[in-house]
Amino acid sequence: MTETPILKAENLCKRFGGVQAVYEAGIEVARGSITGLIGPNGAGKTTFFNLLCHFIPPDRGRVYFDGYPIEKKPPHAIARLGMVRTFQVPRVLSRLTVLENMLLGAPHQTGEKFWNVWLQGRRIAREERQLKEQAREFLASVGLEGMKDQYAGSLSGGQRKLLELARTLMTQPKLILLDEPAAGVNPALMENICNYIQTWNKDGISFLIIEHNMDVIMSLCSHIWVLAEGRNLADGTPHEIMHNDRVLEAYLGRD
Ligand SMILES: Nc1ncnc2c1ncn2[C@@H]1O[C@H](COP(=O)(O)OP(=O)(O)O)[C@@H](O)[C@H]1O
Ligand SMILES: [Mg+2]
Repeated sequence: MTETPILKAENLCKRFGGVQAVYEAGIEVARGSITGLIGPNGAGKTTFFNLLCHFIPPDRGRVYFDGYPIEKKPPHAIARLGMVRTFQVPRVLSRLTVLENMLLGAPHQTGEKFWNVWLQGRRIAREERQLKEQAREFLASVGLEGMKDQYAGSLSGGQRKLLELARTLMTQPKLILLDEPAAGVNPALMENICNYIQTWNKDGISFLIIEHNMDVIMSLCSHIWVLAEGRNLADGTPHEIMHNDRVLEAYLGRD
C-alpha cells in the first residue's frame, strides 16, 4: 500500500473568458517530498496554484489535502489545515513592521473570540508572547531577526522573499507551495533559500515548488510535474523529465 499523498488534485479546470488557463490538470505530492511544477510561461502554473489553495474557485475538479477534500474550503481554512503558499511577487504589508507581518501569518488565536478576550486576558497575553518568540525564531532562521522592527516596506526584494518564506512557518504548515522562490534573487540568496527549503523539509514539511531555474528544480525535487497549455504533459524523476522529448518540445515551442 502506498501512503496517502499530502496533496492530490484531479481534473482541475479554469477558464478566464476565452482562455482555458487550466484544463483537466492533476498532481500528486508525496508526503515528505519536495515536488516540482514546471512548464513554459503561460502554461497555467500560477493559476493551478490558485486553484489548489482556492484563491480562485475551480470550474471543475477535486483537491484532496491529506486525503480530505478541500476544493470548497476558503484559503484561510486550508491554511489552518496546514497548506500555505507564497506568491510570485511577495505579498508583504509595507506599513507594518517585519515582526507584525510575521504575526499576521499566525493562525487563529484565542483572542479572536469576544468571550475569550473577556475571560482569558492573561492567557492571550501569554499566547502573544509565545507567538512573538516563535516569530523571532523563524526570522532568525532566515537571517532577518535584526530587521524585525523595521517597516517591511524598507526591505529589499530578496528580503521580502525571505520574510514571506519565514511567515509561512507561522501556521505550522505540513505543505508549503512556493511560486518561483528563486525568481529575481541573486545566486547567493538563491543558495540560502534552497538550504532553508531542504532544512525545513528534513524537519517534516513537504514542498510543492514552481520554478524556472532548472538547477534549483533539479537539485531540490524528487519528482516533477510538467504543465503545458494548462494540461499535464508529463511527470517523473528529474532524470526522466530532463530526457523527455515532449517536455523539451514544449519548452522550445515546437509542434
Ligand atoms: N486572472 C486572469 N484573468 C484572465 N486570464 C488569466 C488570469 N490569470 C491567468 N490568466 C491567463 O491564463 C494563462 C495561464 O497563466 P498563468 O497561470 O499565470 O501561467 P504561468 O504561471 O504558468 O506562467 C495565461 O494565458 C494567462 O494570461
Ligand atoms: Mg506564474
